[in-house]
Amino acid sequence: MSLIVALDSPDREFGSLVEDLCDIVDGFKLGLPLLMGRGVDYAARLRSRCNRGLWIADLKLADIGHVMKLTTSLVVEHVDAVIAHGFVGIQGALGELKEFLNSLGKKLVVVASMSHPGAREVYDKALPLILNVIGELEPWGIVAPATRPQVITSIRERLGDSVTILSPGVGAQGAEPGAAICAGADYEIVGRLITSSNDPRAAALAVKDAQKQRLQAC
Ligand code: C5P
Repeated sequence: MSLIVALDSPDREFGSLVEDLCDIVDGFKLGLPLLMGRGVDYAARLRSRCNRGLWIADLKLADIGHVMKLTTSLVVEHVDAVIAHGFVGIQGALGELKEFLNSLGKKLVVVASMSHPGAREVYDKALPLILNVIGELEPWGIVAPATRPQVITSIRERLGDSVTILSPGVGAQGAEPGAAICAGADYEIVGRLITSSNDPRAAALAVKDAQKQRLQAC
């Protein structure tokens, strides 16, 4: 099963959690609160506790290319992939960022939609336009919501198998483990369900088990 753990809290010490989960998860996503609160060097320290899997900086960039590259350059040496919003478009923005990341051997992940209820207000309406951007840009990965698996299915149908779909929203935001993978996602991103547990390793193993069971039925 494919599980990435979201680390967001700026006031938590995640070192031992990362070490505990290292052999059973597929990577870690570092959120902006964590990176801003603890500093980018903290990403390096965390990674030194688990130098395997996919490490993602969830910067949710939405700016001109020049500024997105400046922001990215602060953390990129410590991660494998960086997340940016899709609505900024390619010219002068995502195109430049992708070229920059490619030159460093790093991956670009573009947000196609979001997992919170308010995504219906603007994001869902803009989805066809954002998918045009993604179709042309061909980033390594995209983010699509586990909370609305039908969005994942329609994105997978539209973009085919070549793009990697990462799906947050499992647990605290209401999606069941495995639902997004059944709908076509490659990875589920799980934060609080695991990080707020008294026993994060047991919680992660329970998510993997639930993913397996769900997949048998899809
Ligand atoms: O704690 P929880 O499992 O809800 O964490 C979800 C993670 O996924 C958070 O880091 C959040 O920023 C991120 N995310 C999301 N929806 C998106 C993109 C990222 O919830 N569309």
